[in-house]
Amino acid sequence: MSRIVYVNGDYVPEAEARVSVFDRGFLMADGVYEVTSVLGGKLIDFAGHAARLARSLNELQMAAPVSDADLLAIHRELVARNGLVDGMVYLQITRGNPGDRAFLWPDPALVPSTLVMFTQSTPDLANNPQAKTGIRVISIDDIRWGRRDIKTVQLLYPSMGKMMAKAAGVDDAWLVEDGFVTEGTSNNTYIVKGGQIITRQLGNDILHGITRAAVLRFAREAQMEVVERAFTVAEAKAADEAFITSASAFVTPVVEMDGVAIGTGKPGKVATRLREIYLDESRKLAV
Ligand code: PDD
Repeated sequence: MSRIVYVNGDYVPEAEARVSVFDRGFLMADGVYEVTSVLGGKLIDFAGHAARLARSLNELQMAAPVSDADLLAIHRELVARNGLVDGMVYLQITRGNPGDRAFLWPDPALVPSTLVMFTQSTPDLANNPQAKTGIRVISIDDIRWGRRDIKTVQLLYPSMGKMMAKAAGVDDAWLVEDGFVTEGTSNNTYIVKGGQIITRQLGNDILHGITRAAVLRFAREAQMEVVERAFTVAEAKAADEAFITSASAFVTPVVEMDGVAIGTGKPGKVATRLREIYLDESRKLAV
């Protein structure tokens, strides 16, 4: 089935969608993105994703091509036109096509940004078998740039990390800087020790996950103890539990790191409970 995608104001069949070879997203990775999950045809935490998008654009002095209300309308239109039940809406805004390759940014008043959006269908997204089995990870060096809080489309190293994980026969990689875990290749990372949920504090060195914010709020509301601090690889291996969060994984347990079983080597109680709470609460708030 061919998708209908959105390109700069138009809804077109995916084979007809066009972006210039001079687009700065293509030449310079000069762009930002968001991934919003869809469950039962409804958007999960759209407001959070729209707010982070505005922040990413602002950090890069890029103009928002459409208002938040229009953005929501386009998301909904794409979900409807593609009959999407469970999956994701991908959104990308780049600094557009200045007509040639150049390092300096073009004047945003003269060169409009490029807005592209499309849906990805994942039937039964909330029942991914990995939620039951947990995932296995390796630790790798975090050699990304220093502004990981901006959700840019420079995803080469995360792609390499996932390839390294695949080559090692596992599911994903956790990134490590100065001995401390920063985050996963495409998710935020957590350990549980002695009842405490420990996750790295926000800063320029990690993405401010929208799922992270919601999960920590729900955890605190459920009287769970949350500690926002960096943790080491050794702490992760000695933890009672570990898990990741992201818009596509929700809360997914991590059961092994670098070949070492974490806790019992099975999904833990805290991760399992948080996943249930997160899915229940976010479905209620979905738009
Ligand atoms: N990735 N950290 C990184 C590096 C990420 O790429 C992501 C999301 C997250 C989690 O953020 P959120 O909870 O807002 O999805 C953390 C998306 C899903 C992706 O690139 O596909």
